[in-house]
Amino acid sequence: MAHYGDLQNEIYGAGVRGTLPTLPVDFALLEARATAAMPPAVLSYLQGGCGDEFTQRHNAEAFRHWGMTPRMMVDCTKRDLSIELFGLTLPSPLFMAPVGINGICTQDGHGDLAAAEASAITRVPLVASTLSNDPLEKVAATLGDMPGFFQLYTPKDKALAESLVHRAEAAGFKAIVVTLDTWVTGWRPRDLNAANFPQLRGAVLMNYFSDPVFRALLARPPEEDPATAIGTWAATFGKVLTWADMAWLRSMTKLPIILKGICHPDDARRAIDEGADGIYCSNHGGRQANGGIAAIDMLPGVVAASGKTPVLFDSGIRSGSDVVKALALGATAVGVGRPYAYGLALGGAAGAAHVLKCLLAEADLLMAVNGYPTIADVRAAGAIRQ
Ligand SMILES: Cc1cc2nc3c(=O)[nH]c(=O)nc-3n(C[C@H](O)[C@H](O)[C@H](O)COP(=O)(O)O)c2cc1C
Repeated sequence: MAHYGDLQNEIYGAGVRGTLPTLPVDFALLEARATAAMPPAVLSYLQGGCGDEFTQRHNAEAFRHWGMTPRMMVDCTKRDLSIELFGLTLPSPLFMAPVGINGICTQDGHGDLAAAEASAITRVPLVASTLSNDPLEKVAATLGDMPGFFQLYTPKDKALAESLVHRAEAAGFKAIVVTLDTWVTGWRPRDLNAANFPQLRGAVLMNYFSDPVFRALLARPPEEDPATAIGTWAATFGKVLTWADMAWLRSMTKLPIILKGICHPDDARRAIDEGADGIYCSNHGGRQANGGIAAIDMLPGVVAASGKTPVLFDSGIRSGSDVVKALALGATAVGVGRPYAYGLALGGAAGAAHVLKCLLAEADLLMAVNGYPTIADVRAAGAIRQ
């Protein structure tokens, strides 16, 4: 039986034959390599966060105050990391969080397709962002038979929102992730000091520029008059959603709806009462609000409030042990953002796939050593605050 952890034998074996890994296997070295390699504007947007970036750093550091107790005399020679999510059987609990800059993380400007390819290679599902350098139909086609989810930034224009959702449904995406925390951009000093906002330079807007409802808002197509198209995008981006919009969101699609950005137990309960199929606990990797509480510390409360409803989690995942800790604290599936985007920047689809494989290998080996053969065992073991 093959295991994700077998990757370490491959790496050591290749080393015996004189070949070293081309990309680092840990986050610190990966980030250092990406920092040296990436164009400053793309790096600033990807790496930066809100305010003095305390929340962003704390998201990652807070994993250190959670710990797991190893169990011995358990046969872990066979591990099963698979999960069930919205009727899908997925081989692992890891997923790629929506990153609306993927498109320009690769030099060819097709980073969204590279991310989809990485998903197809690793069978780690992609949540494809509304902000994309290729239309969602192409992203879906690149996924092939690998299920993916579509993340919606809800435009103010309701017909445009509906068009995006219907396109995602027609393209074969399996769920709609509605992001709640980004109707306005958080205060990001790194980008502000460089007056750097890629969308206003026309990047990652292809889902809009290819949309019939969006194009109908324009006197001339984006290919002829990009400045007006970008201005129209800026004017329509970011509908403020309230609970009163849930019925409308529900009416748009039969696909499962997952609400992203839920951190308070009361919001989780309300979301479920209003018809959400999934809760996505995230503080947007500390990019939107420098609020101070690490996302992982808010997860247990959200899980307790969510009952049987699946809880997706992201923000601060930097290693396989972080993945396992999030599962131990009750997440159904665990998302990673910046790390795989660094992989895209350094090595395209293969680079992102490498990052995902390393996260899974470390998670799998931690489960092996700690005596947790399945995700259910991880949950039963739990994590304690130290
Ligand atoms: C550069 C960048 C762009 C992002 N774009 C989106 C997006 O388009 N939609 C969305 O819902 N979240 C977006 N996010 C947030 C991620 O989905 C995720 O919540 C966050 O990256 C998780 O934190 P991590 O980067 O620490 O893993 C973005 C994050 C980054 C770093």
